[in-house]
Amino acid sequence: MYIPKPLDDKITIPHLRKLKQEGEKFACLTAYDYSFANLVEDCGVEVVLVGDSLGMVIQGHDTTIPVTLDDICYHGKAVAAGLHNAMLMLDMPFGSLNSPQQALDNACELIKQTEAQVVKLEGWKSQLEIVEALAHFGIASCAHLGLQPQMVNKMGGYRVQGKAKSAAEEMLATAKNLEAAGTDLLLLECVPAPLAAEITAELEIPVIGIGAGPDVDGQILVLQDVLNVTPGKKPKFSKNFMQGQSSIQGAISRYVTEVKRGQFPDRSHSFS
Ligand code: KIV
Repeated sequence: MYIPKPLDDKITIPHLRKLKQEGEKFACLTAYDYSFANLVEDCGVEVVLVGDSLGMVIQGHDTTIPVTLDDICYHGKAVAAGLHNAMLMLDMPFGSLNSPQQALDNACELIKQTEAQVVKLEGWKSQLEIVEALAHFGIASCAHLGLQPQMVNKMGGYRVQGKAKSAAEEMLATAKNLEAAGTDLLLLECVPAPLAAEITAELEIPVIGIGAGPDVDGQILVLQDVLNVTPGKKPKFSKNFMQGQSSIQGAISRYVTEVKRGQFPDRSHSFS
């Protein structure tokens, strides 16, 4: 008889839900290759994202828009090879989810090629129906609200979202609708800390923040920002964890520790 490999030692969606229920924070980080995936997992990161930020930090583009499905697949396979326990999440790149059917086909392709557990999606008005379609076919998803870099042209720049009362109310309502539609995780990017705290408290699914203050369930940053190797101006929400550390391992472990203790992000890395 075939006995499936136990998932006991794998980080799963129920595992993250349990952490949320118990009030324990979890740490997420991007990675784009085998060696860093291995290292990041060894440092205690629970969720590793192959983000379309690779368009900027690996490929040198100005935006995430040129990233293709093949790019995510290529880096996804490399990262998958380096992970044993951490959850692997892949971004669905711009143009790969122009209809629920296209999103479904592309998510299946990514998951087949990489054995990723979760796909993350951005979307203007389209996220709800795509989440619903993915959930209908048993595909775990992470919706993304707040600043959506794939929509930078529509949003008119990289700006904090949900500052006005009406925008905050709309984001909370959308978050609840996405949860009802079947998304398993929600990522909030560049959202005022009080709004992110309210959304996190209202939802049962775990909420991951980047520039969303300390009161979300998990934090994520781009690896290159943590290691301070990105050229140019740094976003307010990122932090150079190499400061005071003599190794890359030390910096990533410090990030994990500060997230789990609720020390990162503090007010200086959050929006009010
Ligand atoms: O692409 C990415 O790395 C992301 C994170 C910034 C959350 O979406």
